[in-house]
Amino acid sequence: MAKKVKQATPHRNGIKPPKLERKQIPNHVAIVMDGNGRWAKSRGLARTAGHEAGEKALVDIVHGAIEIGVKELSVYAFSTENWKRSPEEVKFLMGFNREVIHSRREELNDLGVKIRWVGREKRLWKTVIDELKQAESLTKNNKVLTLNMCINYGGRAEMLDAAVSIAKEAVKKKIKPDALTEKSITKYLYAPLMRDVDLFIRSSGEQRTSNFLMWQSAYAEMVFLDVLWPDADRRTLWKAIEIYAERERRFGKA
Ligand code: IPE
Ligand code: IPE
Ligand code: MG
Repeated sequence: MAKKVKQATPHRNGIKPPKLERKQIPNHVAIVMDGNGRWAKSRGLARTAGHEAGEKALVDIVHGAIEIGVKELSVYAFSTENWKRSPEEVKFLMGFNREVIHSRREELNDLGVKIRWVGREKRLWKTVIDELKQAESLTKNNKVLTLNMCINYGGRAEMLDAAVSIAKEAVKKKIKPDALTEKSITKYLYAPLMRDVDLFIRSSGEQRTSNFLMWQSAYAEMVFLDVLWPDADRRTLWKAIEIYAERERRFGKA
């Protein structure tokens, strides 16, 4: 029997999502959650306090994504380049991500969220991978929203890892190089079932992708917002979706 799913909790101000037609709502939204350090610095706090404050933005946005009807949400929580940060910050981020996944998984499961880890195994803390796998297994049958937790993710790392796997299969004669297609390559990505990104959002005012979902975002609409991540909430997502709804997507057609 299908389990009963909890409704998303309305925003604390009671505001409702904008009324849009289904086709104006992106199926897959990707978010570069940026600006935690600057948020903390402007308050005279340690960078880590900014990461902590960012958790509630993420949770509110998950509720808001469900309310408006987004089907897949990919969030950039730790990049393959973030290992270049101080050992203290890296250590904090590893422990913090593990804790957030652990403490939020029941709430997300009740909402019908399917959690999926997207990233590279090499170098990632084993305790973080274990926590992610437990969350994946707990939520595997959920259908309301897929939440891709991109941890130790990098677009180039993903391309490289796919190339290595494909080359190995070719050497074993399991695939014919000439038979490869854009579609068959997606089988070798970290999340083969991921949809193409429709809307790519970055907070903090920076206007770059920082190696996030390169392949999947080839035709995404880009929206850069000035808000620092800890100050974001579902209204930030809805505003980006309203901008998206005004865009004309052509995919190369005239
Ligand atoms: C984003 O915030 C969080 C991660 C990259 C983990 P930052 O930590 O990059 O914050 P800024 O960009 O320094 O303000
Ligand atoms: C991108 O933000 C990575 C995440 C949000 C996890 P960064 O803050 O690491 O990116 P750069 O260094 O400004 O490009
Ligand atoms: Mg940053």
